[in-house]
Parts: sequence; C-alpha cells; structure tokens
Amino acid sequence: MFVVGGSASPSLSKELAKSLRAKLAKVETKRFPDDECYVRIDDDLADEDVILVQTAWPDKNIMELLLLQDAIKEFDVASLTTVVPYFGYSRQDKQFKPGEPISARALARMIQMSTDEFITVDIHAPSVIDWFEGIPAKNVAAYPQIGKYLKGKGTQLVLSPDEGRAEHAKHVADVVNCESDYLVKERIDGETVKMTPKRLDVKGKKVAIVDDIISTGGTIVKAAEQLKKQGCASIVAVCTHGVFANNAIPRLEAVCDELCTTDTIENPKTCITVAPEIARIAKD
Ligand code: R5P
Repeated sequence: MFVVGGSASPSLSKELAKSLRAKLAKVETKRFPDDECYVRIDDDLADEDVILVQTAWPDKNIMELLLLQDAIKEFDVASLTTVVPYFGYSRQDKQFKPGEPISARALARMIQMSTDEFITVDIHAPSVIDWFEGIPAKNVAAYPQIGKYLKGKGTQLVLSPDEGRAEHAKHVADVVNCESDYLVKERIDGETVKMTPKRLDVKGKKVAIVDDIISTGGTIVKAAEQLKKQGCASIVAVCTHGVFANNAIPRLEAVCDELCTTDTIENPKTCITVAPEIARIAKD
C-alpha cells in the first residue's frame, strides 16, 4: 500500500502512512511560469492500493488533487482511495439564491470521476457525502482526537458556538468526561455574527469552545468575549478545519488563551492529527 501526499497535506500524509504501515510515495510538485500545476509520482504504483491525501482548499490545491488522481490512475493501481481532509466549498451545499451553483456538489462530482473510494473529515454539510454516487464515501469524525487533546488540558466544560454543533460538543465532552452546552449564534453575513447572551455555569472553569471550521474567527471571538465576561478561568478554542481567513489568528489569540486545530488544514496552530481516525476508516 502507498500513501500519496499532495502539497497541501504533507504532515497528515506522513502520519497516515505511519498509522497504516504504508509506503509514502515520492511526489514532485511544481508550478510552471504561468502558475499551472505540474505533478509527478516517482514510484511504481502499479497493482498497489493507493491512498491519496490532499486538502481541497484553496482552489489551487483542488487542481493539484485532480492531477494527482489522474497520475495515480495512469499506473493501473489496484485501488485508489481519495482522502480530502478539508472539503472546500462545503458551506455552499445548496442554492441560497436562484442562479447560484451548488458548489460542494460540483466539487464532489469532479473528485468522484477518478477514485474508487472517498474519505473526508468533519464535513460541514453531511449531504455532500450523498453526492458521491456509485462509490463508497465516508465522513470521519475528528472528535475522538479533539477530546483526547482537551482531556489532557484539564477541560471542565465544552461549548459549541451554536445549537447546530451542540451534538459535536457533546461527543467531545464525552471523551473528556465533562459537561457540554451551547451558545446562541445568529449569522448576519459572511463576516458578522451576533451572539445572544446566555447564562452558563462557567465561573472559574477551564472552558473549551469547539467548532468544525474557524474562518474569519468572528464566531469564536464573539463566543470568547461572552465567556470572559461571565468569569471563566481560561478558554481554549479548538476547530477541525483552521481556515483563518482575513488574518484571523491574532484576533483570536487576543481573546483566547489557546488556539488549536487538527491537521486537515496544516497551519501554525495545528496540534492534533486526525490520521488515526482516517486510518481506522481506511482499513474497514
Ligand atoms: C458555521 O456554520 C460553522 O460551523 C462555523 O461556525 C463558521 O464557519 C465559522 O466562521 P467564522 O470563523 O467566519 O465565524
């Protein structure tokens, strides 16, 4: 078995190869002067089971993913499983206004054309999985690894920033062995959120806020401000996918004691690997 790592997911690919006791393929990636992408796999993958790992964000990494799939299929491999740790465009999973594309579906259709199986992590809209028609498609949960990390930090309460993610917070809290609750959020637009004050039993507690994606950081900043006012002892913000748009990290660090993400998007705040969870599902 070989793991082929795209340039968006070098560390996770290495971890996954270790977890699966697979070989890590040698991959050359570069950009032509006109910024078009070039990839080449310098290992013989013929008749091998291959796992390709490449996050589909930002756009240039999607193109690299499609080229890597094509390069792998040229070898007549025994099987190809495409692992997309962070599935870009997953928040555009429906037409919000007439005339819009269903972007997540468009991406799913492109990826499934050249793979035998598909795996992603904490997909924002579970409906995305259903668009992989005719091939097995699986969504891996990151909460066991997030919970393990927060348990080591002595977390006393796990919160989600909105009711929609309350179940995720509960799963994390069950691993930590503490209580969970949720805040009340209203999204005004892509960059603005409103948090309705909610009285919570946070005084003097080590609190964790968990979300699937941190994008602009607006959600976590509002949540952390509210928790600080209510007298919590410390706040750690943990997400699966750290997008950190618009230079979000300093704004988040100004209100949180610690910021941590998984390696679905490799960034300076990555401190949890989801490799064991992907390996478990890939072996099924
Ligand atoms: C929304 O439904 C997601 O779960 C996240 O809460 C959201 O994407 C975070 O965005 P931002 O960091 O821009 O507030």
